[in-house]
Amino acid sequence: MTDRQANNAMNESLWTISETSLDPQGQHHAETIFTIGNGYLCTRGALEEGYAGDRRATFIHGVFDAAPIVVTELANAPDWLPLSVHAAVAGAGGALGPYERFSQDRGQIAGYRRTLDLRQGVLTRRLEWTAPTGGRLALTFERFAALDQPHMLLLRCRVVPDLLGRLQFRASLNGYAHNDGLLHWRYVAQGLDPASGAASLHTRTRHSGIDLVTAMRLVTAASAEHSRAYWDTENAPTLVVEVEAVPGQEVVIEKYVAVYTSRDAPAGQLCAAALGAVSAVPGWDAAVAGNRAAWETEWERTDVEVEGDDEAQIALRFNLFQMLIAAPRRDDRVNIGAKTLSGFGYRGHSFWDTEIFMLPLFTYTAPHIARNLLNYRHRHLAGARAKAQANGFEGAQFPWESADTGEEVTPTWVPHSADRARLVRIWTGDIEIHISADIAYAAHQYWAVTGDDAWMAAKGAELILDTARFWATRAEWNAAAGRYEYRDVIGPDEYHDHVDNNLYTNRLAQWNLQTALGVLDWLRGYAPERAAELSSQLDLGPERLAHWRHVIDKIYLPAAPDGLLEQFEGYFQRTDVDLASLEPRTKSAQELFGIEGVADTQIIKQPDVLMLLYLLRDQFAAAVVRRNYEYYTPRTDHTYGSSLGPAIQAIMACAVGRPDEAYGHFIRAARADLRDVRGNAGDGIHGASAGGTWQAAVFGFGGLRVTPKGWHTEPCLPQHWRRLRFRFCHRGQPVVIDLEHALTP
Ligand code: BGC
Repeated sequence: MTDRQANNAMNESLWTISETSLDPQGQHHAETIFTIGNGYLCTRGALEEGYAGDRRATFIHGVFDAAPIVVTELANAPDWLPLSVHAAVAGAGGALGPYERFSQDRGQIAGYRRTLDLRQGVLTRRLEWTAPTGGRLALTFERFAALDQPHMLLLRCRVVPDLLGRLQFRASLNGYAHNDGLLHWRYVAQGLDPASGAASLHTRTRHSGIDLVTAMRLVTAASAEHSRAYWDTENAPTLVVEVEAVPGQEVVIEKYVAVYTSRDAPAGQLCAAALGAVSAVPGWDAAVAGNRAAWETEWERTDVEVEGDDEAQIALRFNLFQMLIAAPRRDDRVNIGAKTLSGFGYRGHSFWDTEIFMLPLFTYTAPHIARNLLNYRHRHLAGARAKAQANGFEGAQFPWESADTGEEVTPTWVPHSADRARLVRIWTGDIEIHISADIAYAAHQYWAVTGDDAWMAAKGAELILDTARFWATRAEWNAAAGRYEYRDVIGPDEYHDHVDNNLYTNRLAQWNLQTALGVLDWLRGYAPERAAELSSQLDLGPERLAHWRHVIDKIYLPAAPDGLLEQFEGYFQRTDVDLASLEPRTKSAQELFGIEGVADTQIIKQPDVLMLLYLLRDQFAAAVVRRNYEYYTPRTDHTYGSSLGPAIQAIMACAVGRPDEAYGHFIRAARADLRDVRGNAGDGIHGASAGGTWQAAVFGFGGLRVTPKGWHTEPCLPQHWRRLRFRFCHRGQPVVIDLEHALTP
């Protein structure tokens, strides 16, 4: 190997995630981390031929359907993956023996390796399989969702037989896909298109009435077909191809699949669109090239390079990849769910995870995606207004969990995790109200970083003004204390619910009101007609604005005199538990103490006050940041609390000049799914942690700050990092930050 080859191999390995054995116990975790996608849909890494107990799933943005308890969920789309391989050995005299179906739980497996190439989103599985009755096959499966052709999915299987006889391939589209047993799809029609030889399946969601047509075409390369058949099995149309097996001669089967839904085009046009798309595929190599070129553009904008730490490098790219495959590029009617499109967890619902944890990546590197996500919120202002009104308030109160309609979809009761016969009341949909300010914050940040005045005038201002209206009417005047309060809320730290005056909520509400006044002033100068229109629509007369100023002035912000901020009123009176003394532990503090028990302590699920200090960084003195960092860090359940915490904790550790401590938190966030730190990665990627990982690298170690004066960096690299390089776009100008670190001997 030359130096250059060695270098290339090394670089390749910094772009791949691999496994060398299939662990049936860990298959759901593997399915999550081997998810592929293209921002239109994602498909979990289940095996083409299936495996007992697998959780096969393809989730398409916006394709929700009603479900008991959880209100609505992303409907697991008809399965496009099925491709089974069967081998028959010719006996003496040429007579074929029975077909043996290839499966990883039968026969013998050697040389197994599954690799996800993050650079171009291709998942490859290689292995050698010896059938129980003898006869060996070397198999390679490759699949990807074309980034340049969002409706196209491609799958290829290459087989080198070590036998004489015949190979049979059965490729299906399976309309029986389900969500944990719940069938969302009704069969509508299927058929074979004689002109192209493609098969199609038309299904419709039971409640939301979304039509979906998927089509497939099977292409045999490098060998002559012996026969081809169409099996008209209802709801699982199947194309069957047989080819001769000759020892050492490779057989290649390509399955081209297209998916269209009535969210994309009128239902009557879907079949023609899907059949047209699979017929138009120019071939595997050309499709690969188109996909690769599209990925190159994405990585050019997004990649973060780390030298001196291969694990961090790969993990960062993995997390960025997860964000990129979930990001809606062409659709502003959808948002990203807390578990992206990679699992059943949280049913595809979106939370503040998007605005506070994922959105910054897009705001800084792909503003068009950030804009789509914010437009989704703008489209759902009606739902937010209805929620506020139903609760007796004015303005826009965004739902804690949101899906396709913009109404609140947080389940009210869910089965207890340890005892499914017991129900637990979920209060977040009722009282975790900070999300309205989080959305306003994200809209403002998008404006500050991109300078997109037109968007701010058209949409952002309305988001910020109408959430401000909500905050002002939700604020309760405490006449005895002469202050405004927000009572009975849940802050980011969900170990404590029904608290009064959560500082994060109160301070961000105040920020929302202050910012709204500033935005209105700006709008009056920038677009007076729009300002007048919004003022009349939202009734922003002098009286209301005076009330806003009063709330801003008199809002209660709990704090001790020495700069220690109080997470909520009365927090310091809760029992102070030495969390460190409970180590080593394998359970969250909530599991150890119980839901009520942990609420009586000062242990927190995620850094609530530090989160506020992070978001409003410029408003707090360094000494205040330090004092609160020192107080809250040992009281936070970093390992088993919320996965949202570690990335922010890392940034705040950098803020107090502790890069190595920051690294511990950063790597915990970066590993969250790769190493299944919380044991629930099988439910899907922790999207907030993935987005937070980017923020920890860029705003934490890179120390990037954008202020009205421009941008600057205050780097704080971990000891062993030699270099950190990333890009972003500031007010339309691309910027490359390249930080080198002189290592101390
Ligand atoms: C966290 C929330 C988060 C939600 C979805 C909860 O466990 O406490 O902050 O929004 O998960 O990720």
